[in-house]
Amino acid sequence: METLTGTDIDKAQALLEQGCLVAIPTETVYGLAANALDPEAVLKIFEAKQRPQFNPLIVHISDWAEAQQYVSHIPATAQLLAKEFTPGPLTFLLPKKDIIPDIITSGSPLVALRVPAHPVCRALLSRLSFPLAAPSANEFGYISPTLAAHVQQSLEGKVAYILDGGAATVGLESTIIGFDEAEEVIVHRVGGLSIEQLEAVLGKKVQFPVRTQEQAPLTSGQLKSHYAPHTALYTGDIPALALRFPGKKIASISFSASYPLEHVQQFVLSPGGSLTEAAGNLFRVMREIDALQADIILAEIFPDEGLGRAINDRLNRARAVFKP
Ligand code: TXA
Ligand code: MG
Repeated sequence: METLTGTDIDKAQALLEQGCLVAIPTETVYGLAANALDPEAVLKIFEAKQRPQFNPLIVHISDWAEAQQYVSHIPATAQLLAKEFTPGPLTFLLPKKDIIPDIITSGSPLVALRVPAHPVCRALLSRLSFPLAAPSANEFGYISPTLAAHVQQSLEGKVAYILDGGAATVGLESTIIGFDEAEEVIVHRVGGLSIEQLEAVLGKKVQFPVRTQEQAPLTSGQLKSHYAPHTALYTGDIPALALRFPGKKIASISFSASYPLEHVQQFVLSPGGSLTEAAGNLFRVMREIDALQADIILAEIFPDEGLGRAINDRLNRARAVFKP
């Protein structure tokens, strides 16, 4: 299969209506989309990504008002957050209606719903008579794509068309929330919408899942080895770490500082010190470093606030693969 990249929304629409896969732009990362109501089309996503079928997919809708077609109950807290943050980088886990095929949720009674904010994605969704199932458009386990060219690198030959919407502005996957029996918010994946923003609207702290080691994670974003570059990645103080790897080809990822380390190829994510800007650059820089074929990547630990939390989360997962 030849993979074409372009900006033709008509073409993307036609392919999706035929049950084919199309890579779509969103403000978080690019997605690999199919008709969410067609199990055969959805199966193609799992095949193209070589993604295990126990890993459920997010369903993308064009407007929050559509949520009631697909879920049987919307807690008041979910309505409140949806009013504030949709469209945007926030995904809701809610009890599904029968119209959502089991392959989407891997048999779970909950479906993940998101209203993307990207204008091209919204234009496409508003023309379709069905929602779009879409995981990030990368090979399973690798870094999510923030440019159409990244999708091309990852899924060449596996998708007919990549709808190019430019660089993803948020650059990190959506924040995923669920609700407990008391309808309190539980954050299952930190992402493009900060915890502070959620808490400001709720007027209280959110919770995180309590999990023992043996339990399977609810979302694969919680798997340890995920979002990982091919190059070994270590986190900590860059100048101190650099001393531990003499003779190695080193690349570094820092927030706003550069260091007097001539032998280290340094990538500064936001010289002006914006965590939002840093988040937008992280995945692109990780891919650029992989292409350099450095021996190791040294990454700084970011401030644990705003999107810095999600950046640290992704760096930790990238790192975990190489730790025993
Ligand atoms: O920003 C995003 O969320 C991007 C764009 C394309 O929307 N999508 C994305 O999809 O990151 P994916 O498949 O790479 O990650 C979605 C995560 C996975 O960890 C999956 O396990 C979890 O959401 N998830 C999806 N449906 C779920 C469900 N019913 N219950 C629990 N977790 C679910
Ligand atoms: Mg993914």
